[in-house]
Amino acid sequence: THQWRGVIEEYRDLLDLPEGTPAVTLREGGTPLVHSGWLSGLTGAEVHLKVEGDNPTGSFKDRGMTAAISVAKHQGAEAVVCASTGNTSASMAAYAAKAGLKPLVLVPEGKIAAGKMAQAILHGAQVIMVRGNFDDCLAIAQGLAKDYPVALVNSVNPVRLEGQKTAAFEIVDFLGDAPDFHLLPVGNAGNISAYWLGYRQYAEQGVATRRPVMRGFQAEGASPLVTGSPFPAPETKATAIRIGNPASWHLAVAAAEESGGRFAAVSDEQILAAQRLLATHDGVFVEPASAAGVAGLLQELEAGESYAGATVVVTVTGHGLKDTATALEGVGPLVDTVVDADVSSAAQAAGLA
Ligand code: F0G
Repeated sequence: THQWRGVIEEYRDLLDLPEGTPAVTLREGGTPLVHSGWLSGLTGAEVHLKVEGDNPTGSFKDRGMTAAISVAKHQGAEAVVCASTGNTSASMAAYAAKAGLKPLVLVPEGKIAAGKMAQAILHGAQVIMVRGNFDDCLAIAQGLAKDYPVALVNSVNPVRLEGQKTAAFEIVDFLGDAPDFHLLPVGNAGNISAYWLGYRQYAEQGVATRRPVMRGFQAEGASPLVTGSPFPAPETKATAIRIGNPASWHLAVAAAEESGGRFAAVSDEQILAAQRLLATHDGVFVEPASAAGVAGLLQELEAGESYAGATVVVTVTGHGLKDTATALEGVGPLVDTVVDADVSSAAQAAGLA
């Protein structure tokens, strides 16, 4: 019987990694592409969700991290560093643990979801909170990697994008060709850049006959790619994408332009509504930032944009259990019906009797 081997072994020939790099893997990737009956009905398109919360640490970051940690280990690093809004640090800490490297994490003070913080700590990371935002953390991480013996594994490290582009390969392998449209959340802009690398590569190699239109969605309070200038004080409840000056700015703009796509902003209310709708209609629980692509699709439908007849993929980037506090905000009081321990009390409370 065959077990999925992780993205390096499944796609090694297609990845630009130093020859013979042994894979440090938790068997990431191979994530489900789930048909959404709800969104297909609304759009008249075939809409599929690429459910990246099914990765080992619960986000798409594992695809890039298996590559970055494998290369760092192979090249003799003993310690690794990243700046993070939470998911990158959770992933880095897990892969560093597996590889026997020392993980150092820089996060914006008070802005990390509890689940992600627990992951980083339990996997043995030293977590340093910075009085600043993600963009400040990234600048510090780059400075540390320049002056001290720690390897930087943020997506400014091109090896990360090599791993992350495998999501595009999986989509084409499953659908038999590239979709017409690909929608996804955008923060530091590594992921949209990596998808575009993957789609371009498959089209150049003739595996796909076309490339999708890329549409990236940012939170309104942190939407520099929409306005065209950095946000010095980014703010959103979708803390994963609370980023004011994306590192992969130019690559992301190229992806949008070359594909005939664009960036747009969605409000926190739209993001949280999309999160709940995904959970109740599709049975897919994602963290707030992860719902930005679905929020974007709904916004475009309301604005009269047509997807009728198209094949659409929306990436949902991370698992809902990462951030239950935000998920439960605004859903009203928790169900707090307490009854005596008998059938008739429960039946009465449930409105069955
Ligand atoms: N969705 C989730 C759940 C994320 O954690 C991130 C980024 C994104 C979307 C945006 O992806 O940055 O490639 O455009 N999280 C990073 C982190 C910044 O530190 O975990 P991007």
